[in-house]
Amino acid sequence: MKNSILFIGAGRMAEAIIAGLITSSHEQINSIYVSNQKNTERLQELATKYQVQPIDNYDDIIEKVDMIVLAMPPSEHEGVLNKLKHLITSQFVVTVAAGISPSFIERYLPGGTAVGWIMPNTAAMVKHSISLYTYGSSVSEKHHMQMELLVNSIGTSLYCSEEEIHNLTAITGSAPAFLYLFVESLIEQTEQYNVSRETAEKLVKEMVFGSVEMLKGNYSPKELREQVTTPGGATAEGIKILRTGNFVELLQEAVIATNKKAKGEN
Ligand SMILES: NC(=O)c1ccc[n+]([C@@H]2O[C@H](COP(=O)([O-])OP(=O)(O)OC[C@H]3O[C@@H](n4cnc5c(N)ncnc54)[C@H](OP(=O)(O)O)[C@@H]3O)[C@@H](O)[C@H]2O)c1
Repeated sequence: MKNSILFIGAGRMAEAIIAGLITSSHEQINSIYVSNQKNTERLQELATKYQVQPIDNYDDIIEKVDMIVLAMPPSEHEGVLNKLKHLITSQFVVTVAAGISPSFIERYLPGGTAVGWIMPNTAAMVKHSISLYTYGSSVSEKHHMQMELLVNSIGTSLYCSEEEIHNLTAITGSAPAFLYLFVESLIEQTEQYNVSRETAEKLVKEMVFGSVEMLKGNYSPKELREQVTTPGGATAEGIKILRTGNFVELLQEAVIATNKKAKGEN
C-alpha cells in the first residue's frame, strides 16, 4: 500500500521524518505534502531537498492524503484540530507533539477518527530516535502499518500506553538535552585548561562516544561506573562532589518538571 502524507508543521521533527521516509521507505510513499504557518522559504527548502510538495493552504489537499502528521508546537494543536474537524474524512491523524495524547485529539475530531501519537527525539535526524508510540480508540491493522512506516523511518520504537508516554516523555524526548548540557559543561571546563575549543570538543565527544560503546556491551551502567571509580581514588572524589550537590535528585526533579510541563500541569 502506498501512502500520501500531509505534514502540518515543517520544522526539525517534520524534516527528520520526511528524510527518513524518503531514504528508507520511498517505495511505500505516493506523495508528501508539507505546510506550515508562515515560513514559505522553509517549505521551498524542504521541496528542493526532498522533492516534497509545499502547500500554502492544506484545505484542498486533505481529501488526497491517507495520513496527516501534526508536527507543530503543542500549543497550536487546538486551533489546527478545530480546523481539521471540518475537513477530514478517513485520514489517520498522528501527532508528534509533547503532551498531546490521542484522547486529547479525539475530543476535537469526529467520532471514529483514527488517531496516533509518536514521541520521538532529535536523533530522528540520524535515524536513531527511540520513539514511543500509541493509538486512539479507532485504529485498524492498516493504521498499525502506517504507524510502523513513520516510526521505523526514524529509528527504533516502543509501543506504550498513553500514560506511559506521558511519564516517559522526559526520558526519551527531552533527556537528550540534559545529556547535551552535561557535554557542553564538560567542554567549557576543558577550555579552562588552555585547550582550544576544537580540541576540547573532540576530547569530550570522543569520551562520550567511547562510553556509549561501553553501554552497548554487557555491563550495566552501575558496573561501568564502578570500573572507573576506584574506591578512595580520584574519580571517587569527583563523584562525591556530584552526589553532595544532589546530582541524582536534580535529575529526578528535572524529569518530573519536564513531564509536568509537557502535560500542561505547570
Ligand atoms: N525537537 C524535539 O526534540 C522534539 C522531540 C519530541 C517531540 N517534538 C515535538 O515536535 C513538534 C515540532 O517540534 P520541532 O522541534 O520540529 O519544532 P520547530 O522546528 O520549531 O517547527 C515547528 C513548525 O510548526 C509550524 N507551525 C507552528 N504553528 C503552526 C500552525 N498553527 N499551523 C501550521 N504549522 C505551524 C512552524 O511553522 P512556521 O515556521 O511557519 O511558524 C514550524 O514549521 C512539537 O510539537 C514538539 O513537541 C519535538
